[in-house]
Amino acid sequence: MIPIAEPSLGKEELNLLTKAFKSGWISSKGEFIEKFENEFARYCGRKYGVAVSNGTVALHLALVALDIGKRDEVITPDLTFIATANAVTYTGAKPIFVDSHPDYWCIDPEKIEEKISKKTKAIIPVHLYGHPCDMDPILDIAEDNNLYLIEDAAEAHGAEYKGKKVGSFGDISCFSFYGNKIITTGEGGICLTDDKELSEKMRLLKDHGMNPHKRYWHEIVGYNYRMTNLQAAIGLAQLKKINKFIKKKRQIARLYEEGLRDLSDKGKITLHPEMSWAKNVYWMYSILINTEFGVSRDKLIAELEKKGIESRPFFYPINEMPPYKLKDKFKIAYMLSRSGINLPSQSNLSKRDIKFIVSKIDDKN
Ligand SMILES: Cc1ncc(COP(=O)(O)O)c(C=O)c1O
Repeated sequence: MIPIAEPSLGKEELNLLTKAFKSGWISSKGEFIEKFENEFARYCGRKYGVAVSNGTVALHLALVALDIGKRDEVITPDLTFIATANAVTYTGAKPIFVDSHPDYWCIDPEKIEEKISKKTKAIIPVHLYGHPCDMDPILDIAEDNNLYLIEDAAEAHGAEYKGKKVGSFGDISCFSFYGNKIITTGEGGICLTDDKELSEKMRLLKDHGMNPHKRYWHEIVGYNYRMTNLQAAIGLAQLKKINKFIKKKRQIARLYEEGLRDLSDKGKITLHPEMSWAKNVYWMYSILINTEFGVSRDKLIAELEKKGIESRPFFYPINEMPPYKLKDKFKIAYMLSRSGINLPSQSNLSKRDIKFIVSKIDDKN
């Protein structure tokens, strides 16, 4: 089976992990956590990093640190992984969904303002499947309406908007290091910010609200959202390779493009976009199966599986699912959700694998 994603772990990860193991610091104290926080923040061009146990709690921590809660509203894209909306719900606030842009699949900035109400406190743009959001108009909207900006960069480590890395735009930006992400710590996440006070507040909140200078004195109700030293050790080794991983992801994208160009020229599929202002890191190389294609998207996924190729359908629009069901339909999110497919994209993929995958997509046409 060619898997859709697979971590790339080597002796560097094992060495640092062994070092952490041998030190006895296997929980959330130890030398690697702060190093990982600092180095990841520096990689993204930010001042402070607060490492946490996964990307979902990174979003929750960011929202709580910004005092978002009951009676507030937070704007999110309709087409994203459920964690973006769930983190808002955990705070008691309500996620308000916005449709996707047809050209690059992330939140459509032109459709944000109509969703802003007196209750709106923040926008969470999500850099979906490796492509950055169009940040300039989103930044303007946030500023004009006095809203916080929290970037959900779980799927786009190292992606760039007009030459600037994602994760460097928001009041707080959040990443996931789950096993299928561009770099992984197994489970894990981080919040980045340039605001010292916010970073200190997040640090307090992630450790049960315990005063760092007075043990077991709890200033506020916090959480246990701590990352372990073992995770951070793996993360540090991964971070050394991040540019190599991204280069490989982009090479994989070029190979898919070459192989699938003919189908795309005939309008049968749509290739994974990269806008002129974007550097896409193609977390998962994705295509749209248009109605002109020989078989349906779901049939293609089943056929690929029979040939030993794992693929995934796009996320469902969140507003279609029971916890968030709404009457409105978001046209573009719906279209993307029904036609999109993520293809194998792990950095260990060979040219031969991609040729094989392309030929099996071609066969079905
Ligand atoms: C867009 C997005 N946000 C948040 C998350 C949550 O991250 P985690 O799985 O580490 O909790 C994920 C991913 O897995 C994601 O894809």
